[in-house]
Amino acid sequence: MMAESVLQLKGINKYFGKNHVIKNVDLQIEKGEFVTFLGPSGCGKTTLLRMIAGFYEPDEGEILLNGKRIEKIPPYGRNTAMVFQEYALFPHMTVFDNVAYGLKVKKTAAADLAKRVAAALELMQLQGMERRFPNQLSGGQQQRVAVARALVMDPEVLLLDEPLSNLDAKLRESVRVELREIQQKMGLSTIYVTHDQSEALSMSDKIVVLKDGVIHQIGTAQEIYFEPKTPFVADFIGTTNLLTLVGGDDGAVHYRDTSFPTNKEVHSGLSYSASIRPECIKLAPAPVEGKVSVPVHIENRMFLGEKVRYFVKDKGNKPWIVDMFDPGRQILDGDVYAVFPAEKVWVIQEESV
Ligand SMILES: Nc1ncnc2c1ncn2[C@@H]1O[C@H](COP(=O)(O)OP(=O)(O)OP(=O)(O)O)[C@@H](O)[C@H]1O
Ligand SMILES: [Mg+2]
Repeated sequence: MMAESVLQLKGINKYFGKNHVIKNVDLQIEKGEFVTFLGPSGCGKTTLLRMIAGFYEPDEGEILLNGKRIEKIPPYGRNTAMVFQEYALFPHMTVFDNVAYGLKVKKTAAADLAKRVAAALELMQLQGMERRFPNQLSGGQQQRVAVARALVMDPEVLLLDEPLSNLDAKLRESVRVELREIQQKMGLSTIYVTHDQSEALSMSDKIVVLKDGVIHQIGTAQEIYFEPKTPFVADFIGTTNLLTLVGGDDGAVHYRDTSFPTNKEVHSGLSYSASIRPECIKLAPAPVEGKVSVPVHIENRMFLGEKVRYFVKDKGNKPWIVDMFDPGRQILDGDVYAVFPAEKVWVIQEESV
């Protein structure tokens, strides 16, 4: 028998007044999984997390924790712990008391409590700060206290709402690695909210891509990156070139004057949107045999060290982005060809859908 998912969301809908902010969300999270909610500002990430934690009630649908309905149980009655986007520390309590708060509410014995708080503070590299108050900490330190306060509860599901947004780039990366290690070591089922796609790609077992309260795709980082299900996902994750292709009677697809095979089934005369990543394209002085070659004009370029990013336009004035890696000092100019293998073009969907 399959082990039961730790958390299940079934047909979740949420309205704020007339504003339908979460639309028919179905989702399962397995034990020990690190799941990331990814999507633009306002897409509903926090709202979804708050419903799982019990701070909002869904208007429709069920939330099951280890198979039991919890959507009407208040936050303290479910075994979840949430780190808020605005981290919400108690300003009148020391770091130690902030982290100990949940355990005190649960009437944890003093010795056990002290041990667990110390362990959580150590994990978040906050030793020596036990006696400080939140206003005596930097934003990044406060954020780490908030994470420690959730971790110490050893929750069934840990919910983190952009918990690293206030850390500088270096610290953010090291805390990110640390957090992932702790999560894996403890086997903690975790939902992590971010709108930073590189954070999502690097940390997650599973990514849930949301837009306007709708799940566009659920998948591993590689699935989301290489096999986006909608043009939105293709465009939101990384940088891509979205093309409109037309199906031919020969099963090939056409883009302007070129036609090339695809492993998707296509229908003659229908149009398709497709994605090709900038790193899959090269610029060449002439068409290349066996590859798709689209004539383009170089409009602009950006030297970025490991690569040069070219901004080019094809004969239909459509802009493309092409990344040329290990460029040395060579800079291209003028009329060239954008060249790529046909199999690098990911056909997403029929345009009419
Ligand atoms: N308490 C509320 N009352 C009314 N509308 C709300 C409330 N909370 C959120 N909303 C609206 O619901 C939508 C989703 O908001 P939510 O906070 O879940 O977005 P988010 O994905 O977390 O965005 P961000 O990345 O900016 O944190 C937005 O349109 C927001 O304005
Ligand atoms: Mg939010």
